[in-house]
Amino acid sequence: RQPVDSPLYPLLDAAAGYYRQSLKSHPARKAAVEYLKSRGLSGVIARDFGLGFAPPGWDNLMKHLGGDALQHKAMLDAGLLIENTETGRSYDRFRDRVMFPIRDSRGRIIAFGGRVLGDDKPKYLNSPETPVFHKGQELYGLFEARKANRDLDEIMVVEGYMDVIALAQQGLRNAVATLGTATSDEHLKRLFRIVPSVLFCFDGDAAGRKAAWRALEATLPNLQDGKRARFLFLPDGEDPDSLVRHEGTDAFRARINQHAQPLADYFFQQLSEEADPRSLEGKAHLVTLAAPLIDRIPGNHLRTLMRQRLSEITGLSGEMLQQVAQSTPPAP
Ligand code: UTP
Ligand code: MN
Ligand code: MN
Ligand code: MN
Ligand code: MN
Repeated sequence: RQPVDSPLYPLLDAAAGYYRQSLKSHPARKAAVEYLKSRGLSGVIARDFGLGFAPPGWDNLMKHLGGDALQHKAMLDAGLLIENTETGRSYDRFRDRVMFPIRDSRGRIIAFGGRVLGDDKPKYLNSPETPVFHKGQELYGLFEARKANRDLDEIMVVEGYMDVIALAQQGLRNAVATLGTATSDEHLKRLFRIVPSVLFCFDGDAAGRKAAWRALEATLPNLQDGKRARFLFLPDGEDPDSLVRHEGTDAFRARINQHAQPLADYFFQQLSEEADPRSLEGKAHLVTLAAPLIDRIPGNHLRTLMRQRLSEITGLSGEMLQQVAQSTPPAP
């Protein structure tokens, strides 16, 4: 999936070094340090995640890494520089931002996210797709989580950089982020190779709830018997970062224990809101929604059990459900 060797790796590593160093010693670093403190982060966590600072200015990194035309081209390829196609001049992509290095599963830096220190837009800037960075496949924090615990039994999937880091700061070092992209089949395959259980915990807003359902859809085809997924829905307006800071680690853990919803429960609850099983029409609709999704589950036992639950809810026998799944709908 990723090139074994690429000149972009040492370059991205050098860039991360420059950003880290700037957070320690650049004359403009104060605002960045204050910002990280205001978000409750310690120096230890900043170090563990390799956080850095891209100072204000158009060519700090370009000058620092310098070099010949080949190096310049590599910096463009790595997404570190942007070229103005009209003037042909290039400039640093990341300016005046807190920098989050993104690592692949081997720990190599493959991309960056950069956050503004205030409320400017865009809030986060990310590296573009490059030969070493494929956004839909990576999980931010996965390398760090595995490094912190070689024996993970559950991984929590959250939306953002700050969620991963704030959870780690509070002692929950098993979170990874999808970085604004939908949870993909690739993500699930990778996660289930590492742990038997995945806990989705997205923001408590409409986008987060939508992301949860999409995550469920990506999970179904990867649910072998022995694997499981759970969903924790947060109060409106909260994300894992804000919530764990408000209520603390113990309350957050207790919340997971009490409220994380097994995939099957979330599945039937959500579909029953779309198709009200109190009427026959609703039951029929529910079957058309649920049966094809249940059929995607590779785990024989779980698939059978979910069909059984659908039978209980709708009153259709297992055999009849089987027929529904096999028959094609009539033309309108
Ligand atoms: P959120 O909007 O939930 O931001 O986006 P956040 O992580 O809570 O940010 P803070 O707490 O204000 O710092 C979730 C994720 O979506 C991606 C980022 O990866 C972000 O962490 N995103 C968001 C972007 O890539 N660009 C944006 O402008 C916004
Ligand atoms: Mn590739
Ligand atoms: Mn959000
Ligand atoms: Mn947030
Ligand atoms: Mn958020």
